Amino acid sequence: MENCPIILDTDPGIDDAVALAVLNYYCPERVRLILTSYGNISVEKTTRNAQTLRALLGWEVPVVKGSVRPENNRYEEAAHIHGADGLGGLRLEAPMELGEAEDGDFLQRVRDRICTLGLVEYITLGPLTNLAALLRRFPEVRPCIARVVCMGGGFGVGNVTQWAEFNIHCDAESADFVFAELPEIALIPLNITNKVAFDLEQIAEMTQPDTPLCRAMGQILRMNYHACVNYGEKGSTMHDSAAVLYAIFPELFETERCGVRVDCGERYGETLREESRRNVILPREAQISALLERIAEAIRRPEKNF
Ligand code: RIB
Ligand code: CA
Repeated sequence: MENCPIILDTDPGIDDAVALAVLNYYCPERVRLILTSYGNISVEKTTRNAQTLRALLGWEVPVVKGSVRPENNRYEEAAHIHGADGLGGLRLEAPMELGEAEDGDFLQRVRDRICTLGLVEYITLGPLTNLAALLRRFPEVRPCIARVVCMGGGFGVGNVTQWAEFNIHCDAESADFVFAELPEIALIPLNITNKVAFDLEQIAEMTQPDTPLCRAMGQILRMNYHACVNYGEKGSTMHDSAAVLYAIFPELFETERCGVRVDCGERYGETLREESRRNVILPREAQISALLERIAEAIRRPEKNF
């Protein structure tokens, strides 16, 4: 997969922001479209944040505004973790030309991009509403999606309820559909991502270089650290970076194959193993220190002076 073009589906969000920096550092040319979603905050704000991050990273990549809400209309934002604006109140030092975000029939736009590219890796860092809607409306894209890499779910652990993780809990029906529909899905769950967390000392060390990127990341990560710890997490938890790092450095993960289904009833959003299928690649373990170091390097990026 290492050279496959990427469609990134994201709801920035502080940990999404760091994941964007990771992709921009290690494989900027692979990312061919950023599709935003409601989730951590409204899609208006996640789209604005994607434009801000694109400018901060000096990245030429289209941003397309995606779904406003799930069909079942029951999701709640995560402003308590990401701030009211979704980026911890980030104030850029100087006005930046943020560029435009495409608005309108985003499913048609994404379908056209995927069919033109022929084969893509589709990475989801937020709810699965966009992807499920795309597959339902344009089944012809199904063979063009070589693999989905999804940050989501948890087995015996949740962060919205005791059994449901946020991205899945936003739209369990769409997640259940996607997990049954596609032939290859790498699912990076809370069992792994909860361990990928920075403390304040690590944040200070990795944002020490005097660059606009390090200054911005230092600000949002310090805010996120306190919010995450107040919420019972280990530190500033890099859920989404762990997922994108699977797409870049899969050798840092030890995986098994199974199927996964999603409870859409009593335990809404709970992910459960489904042994009748084997289309899901599920990490059992990961080299957590190596993941943290790869993230820190993407922020320090000594040779790229933004
Ligand atoms: O549960 C963590 C996930 O939910 C991350 O993708 C975070 O950004 C939020 O979207
Ligand atoms: Ca996210």
